[in-house]
Amino acid sequence: MSLEQYYEKLKEEYIERTPISGRAFKKAAKYLAGGETRTVSYYPPYPLTIESGRGCRLIDVDGNSYYDFLNNYTSLIHGHANEKIANAICDAAKKGTAVPAGMEEQVKLAELLCERVPCVDSVRFCNSGTEATLFATRAAKVFTGKNGIVKMLGGYHGTTDMMEYNVTPPVMDYEHPQNMLIPKPDIRGVSDKLAEEMYIVPYNDLAAMEKVLSSHADDIAGVIVEPFLGAGGVIPAKKEYLEGLRALTEKYHVLLIFDEVQAFRLSEGGAQKKYGVIPDIAAFGKIIGGGLPVGAVGGRREIMEVFNAAGKDPVTQSGTFNGNRATMAAGYAALMQYKQADCDRLEQLAIRLQTKMEDAIRSVGMEGCVTRAGSLMNYHFIKGIPRNYTDVTRENKDLCKIIHLEMLKRGIFLAPRGLIALSTPMDESVIDICAEAFRDSLVSIRKIW
Ligand SMILES: Cc1ncc(COP(=O)(O)O)c(C=O)c1O
Repeated sequence: MSLEQYYEKLKEEYIERTPISGRAFKKAAKYLAGGETRTVSYYPPYPLTIESGRGCRLIDVDGNSYYDFLNNYTSLIHGHANEKIANAICDAAKKGTAVPAGMEEQVKLAELLCERVPCVDSVRFCNSGTEATLFATRAAKVFTGKNGIVKMLGGYHGTTDMMEYNVTPPVMDYEHPQNMLIPKPDIRGVSDKLAEEMYIVPYNDLAAMEKVLSSHADDIAGVIVEPFLGAGGVIPAKKEYLEGLRALTEKYHVLLIFDEVQAFRLSEGGAQKKYGVIPDIAAFGKIIGGGLPVGAVGGRREIMEVFNAAGKDPVTQSGTFNGNRATMAAGYAALMQYKQADCDRLEQLAIRLQTKMEDAIRSVGMEGCVTRAGSLMNYHFIKGIPRNYTDVTRENKDLCKIIHLEMLKRGIFLAPRGLIALSTPMDESVIDICAEAFRDSLVSIRKIW
């Protein structure tokens, strides 16, 4: 049987196991364009419909249960329906969720971020990581009076036009990887005119960064970078790389912007605290909202002052639901339960899972590895260890799709692309169940391939 036929067989089994989800998707397709409302949620034959979640478990409408190893694409640090967060949301809802005025809950969460995150003297809230990176780059442009932004090849920072450049460019020609560095939007509907302001460099490559900065520093406001390449495959950076970025941006008078939307979970003060590399500005999202929509931009006081409405010529930073009470209370409740000891425990669990998964890959004689940053990881079926986007594009994507369905069959919910995110309700026994499911999945595939 070919891999393709095997994939077809797995899809048939999936349809048999999930008839109610199948019907729910058909109904959804009448009212939601494409049957869902988030591109990343879709996979063939159709995504599950989830009835409920509690802790690290999910139940679908057919009654199948899963361990959730995706946690809403890394954003639920405490899994589902955490009692303290749920109570905080209910209390907030009873007091009224949104008013165009100050609310104490905003200041509590802002104070916590200022205390914990080294670069943050003050913050502004918004409603998504997308908005956070938008406002972070905008602040950099206004503060420096320049328009250029350096972005990593394969770096994902949300869905604004500028950030949709060179996220997943097609690999036209492996002999000429330089082609992938020409600034271009990946998706239709995004203006290609922004290319003038964009500079694309490969991740983990300080020489390439220096080349761009030394030639264009007069036009460049900031470098936006994740402390590991998250959606690009959880590709870690060495501390020296981040230190090198800090030194180069200082040398060329360009702001360093950390996108901590995923990376914040690396320590109680984010990746910057873990690595001791302090950017000028940072963008936040995901876990700081306790499971509700959130974003925040924070940084050095003099940069953040561009948003001061009482200041001279302030930059508008609006958003009807910015700092709404429910999100602020949920975020505060989530972070108060996520201290350094919790990050460390999750990292130990992640190392255990990574080790067991890599053992499994070796034991079935496949080529592959599991990359990891803190409690996030991604498996790759590839020779060697990927260091950047170009490396990741060489992996066997068909295998990832198949493993995804194999894992669902075994009660493990993770991303079709192989992303795994742990949550605090997990313990060693849950980790071992996931590792076993992964091993069994590989053994099954190995029987036909
Ligand atoms: C690193 C990073 N930045 C920004 C975003 C965008 O966040 P949001 O989906 O909340 O708009 C994401 C989302 O996955 C992300 O991973």
